[in-house]
Amino acid sequence: MEIRTVGVVGAGQMGNGIAHVLAQAGYDVLLNDISQESLDRAMATIRRNMDRQVAREKITAEQRDAALARITPTLRLADLGPSDLIIEAATERETVKNAIFEDLQPHLQPHTILTSNTSSISITRLASRTDRPEKFMGFHFMNPVPVMKLVELIRGIATDDATYQACLGVVERLGKQAAPAEDFPAFIVNRILMPMINEAVYTLYEGVGSVRSIDTSLKLGANHPMGPLELADFIGLDTCLAIMNVLHDGLADTKYRPCPLLTKYVEAGWLGRKTGRGFYDYRGEEPVPTR
Ligand code: CAA
Repeated sequence: MEIRTVGVVGAGQMGNGIAHVLAQAGYDVLLNDISQESLDRAMATIRRNMDRQVAREKITAEQRDAALARITPTLRLADLGPSDLIIEAATERETVKNAIFEDLQPHLQPHTILTSNTSSISITRLASRTDRPEKFMGFHFMNPVPVMKLVELIRGIATDDATYQACLGVVERLGKQAAPAEDFPAFIVNRILMPMINEAVYTLYEGVGSVRSIDTSLKLGANHPMGPLELADFIGLDTCLAIMNVLHDGLADTKYRPCPLLTKYVEAGWLGRKTGRGFYDYRGEEPVPTR
């Protein structure tokens, strides 16, 4: 099955990156969000990131303009009807995602594939609420989308092979690498990454190391591009905590117990870069550890 037009629901941090790479790979993109302000912000971000690619001679100004012209922003979910593939990248709340799929369904073509960029919600459960569980799967990009080479492809219990192959074809055309994953809590990347981040927070909580010594240890001692606390701030501490809770509830093993210090930061509203403060304070010129 040939995919030409892709509908992206949600123009936030993930959605704008997804629209960016799809348009650059030649797909027509219908980008939806609930506010004009979010759509305007997303288009400005995509343009800024493409300008940077032009400045670094990764793409030409003509390629940037052609890619931008392939993205059509819209406030109406119904406008996503002509899509061959939908990638939902809205708020990470199951009720929100269910409502989006329900609202979309009457406008879709029979062949349209539905996918979600969820980092931890059960694909099988999301699929079971739609009219096409066999044409439903997880399409999980990593942040920042234009830079990270991996996409996790998660099959629900009912996903058919044609759907999987069509999504695999899209990942390959994006120049990215797919990692097939079964539908169990947090899939592969977050199943491994989040317990490491949570353990880094325990290491801080127990006073084994400071914010700087923990991050320096993993950066210089294990060649990670970012330390685990810096990475947690980058991902968002609310997201990290939500994923730990999914692992804890879904696998019922105390090894996934979220660190109380992580909970405390989230309760304070110190969610990382996006709120200006997390394990580091980003409000000055240089990030400064908050403990
Ligand atoms: N959007 C687009 N491009 C970006 C970008 C962004 N937000 N941030 C950086 N880039 C580009 C830069 O333009 C630069 O491009 P060129 O190589 O073409 O020049 C390149 O990325 C490298 O950027 P920098 O030199 O500015 O910075 P860096 O070398 O420190 O790299 C980083 C930045 C790529 C973010 C790197 O620190 C990194 O890999 N960090 C770890 C990221 C990570 O682990 N992500 C996964 C998070 S988990 C997840 O996403 C799953 C989930 O469900 C929570």
